[in-house]
Amino acid sequence: MRRPIIAGNWKMNKALAEAETLALGIVEKFKETNVDIILCPPFTALQKVGEICKGSPIFLGAQDLFYEENGPWTGEISASQLIDIGCKYVIIGHSERRQIFKEDDIIINKKIKQALKHNLSPIFCVGETEKQRKEGREKEIVERQIRLGLKDIDLTFRILNSKFRIPLVIAYEPVWAIGTGNTCKSEDAEKMHIFIRNLISELYTKDLGDVMRILYGGSVKPDNIDAIMKMPNIDGCLVGGCSLDVSSFCRIIEFR
Ligand code: PGA
Repeated sequence: MRRPIIAGNWKMNKALAEAETLALGIVEKFKETNVDIILCPPFTALQKVGEICKGSPIFLGAQDLFYEENGPWTGEISASQLIDIGCKYVIIGHSERRQIFKEDDIIINKKIKQALKHNLSPIFCVGETEKQRKEGREKEIVERQIRLGLKDIDLTFRILNSKFRIPLVIAYEPVWAIGTGNTCKSEDAEKMHIFIRNLISELYTKDLGDVMRILYGGSVKPDNIDAIMKMPNIDGCLVGGCSLDVSSFCRIIEFR
């Protein structure tokens, strides 16, 4: 069975004291859980949030990394630095990084390889823009992002060596749904998730496609989470705006 994941992407929000309050509110509520909860605060709050999550079932994640080991890369953060501070997950290929910071599929592929090399689990984001969807090209775009992002990465080998826990999660995030309030209809998201799962089966094996966890992201809120999580191929959500508030994020984790 695929264990659900609810991940909060705090983006460029929260000063240290605010991050502490938010993390404490979530950790206190979920001492035990059937859901993998991941908090992805900004780099400046990773250490503090990591300390708060210690001893709890909640995982720490980062919002990005750089693909080199170390050296003169001003402003960048390495995989080993993230591991050192307690991260287990890292978001890679978020549409904001693709669009604003011009990260292409080659850079994203390098970042995924670097994360896996250090046993950090990538949350690999893919998704089409509004224009691409209007042109009916959403599957073509997502397929290309997945094929190039996972190029030369042998996940089959990894699955055998991590006792059937695949250290990579895919997040389908239609760009037009991110931060806009326009959620993708759960049935439409489900169709894309089936498409992605089939593609993973084709690229690797059916077994791997079956166990791959595929998250939905884009305007997930307390009032749409239940419908989204009813879809059989949606294994969880990557939440932006609604992960910034204790009560809305907790309600999302407690989807029904
Ligand atoms: P949103 O962001 O929930 O605010 O739409 C999702 C994301 O960017 O991961």
